[in-house]
Amino acid sequence: MSRDKIFWQDDGSPRSQIYDDIYFSPENGLEESQEVFLNGIGAPEVWDGKDQFTIYELGFGTGLNFLLTMKLWLQNSSENQTLMYFATEMHPLSKVEMNKAVHWPELKYLKDEFLTQYPAKDVSLCNGRIRFHLLIGDSGECLRQSHVKADAWYLDGFAPAKNPDMWSDDIFKQMARLSNQDAKVATFTSAGFVRRGLSAVNFKMSKRKGYGKKREMLCGKY
Ligand SMILES: C[S@@+](CC[C@H](N)C(=O)[O-])C[C@H]1O[C@@H](n2cnc3c(N)ncnc32)[C@H](O)[C@@H]1O
Repeated sequence: MSRDKIFWQDDGSPRSQIYDDIYFSPENGLEESQEVFLNGIGAPEVWDGKDQFTIYELGFGTGLNFLLTMKLWLQNSSENQTLMYFATEMHPLSKVEMNKAVHWPELKYLKDEFLTQYPAKDVSLCNGRIRFHLLIGDSGECLRQSHVKADAWYLDGFAPAKNPDMWSDDIFKQMARLSNQDAKVATFTSAGFVRRGLSAVNFKMSKRKGYGKKREMLCGKY
């Protein structure tokens, strides 16, 4: 599946050869994912009382955001709630790469269950409490073909300057088309054109303190 899409930095964290950017913070990717994406959408309170909660992640990468979301979901939802998780990815990593990248012991049991089925595109996990859908291809194209509405969005393409395709007006337009009322969005970037692009399609955007070296990040609500 993978032809050296990544290389391993001296600290053991993965970096993209294609985009020359990091997948997550080499200092502490787990904490960054929690802070930017889970806290950014207001999890776990955001799914309180919902039988079904649907998240789209643009840029699946190593699966770190997904595994952390799985963990929080299992700890903070009831057995009759279902998490639907749609993840786009144009350059899927191999099982071996994902296993190596997501090295945190607290995610191991979830990673093992997930990787048993990966790269199947539609899988049921944790006794049906989580349904995962891998949308392989360009995010814009994947969204154009989708009809499932979102309750939350994780925007995790590489930096906008390095990968503008993941931050296009077309993607923002598709996000609006696919958003339920009050759908949340969270992203590590604070780029002005991303904030303006999402505001233009009716997301109410705000800045908050970024993780680590990043001064600010964006989150919002449709
Ligand atoms: C910063 S990484 C994502 C990190 C990831 N969320 C994680 O938890 O490890 C960005 C991802 O976006 C993917 N990507 C880049 N351009 C894309 C596009 N146009 N459509 C879909 N995926 C894309 C890359 O292959 C990479 O896996």
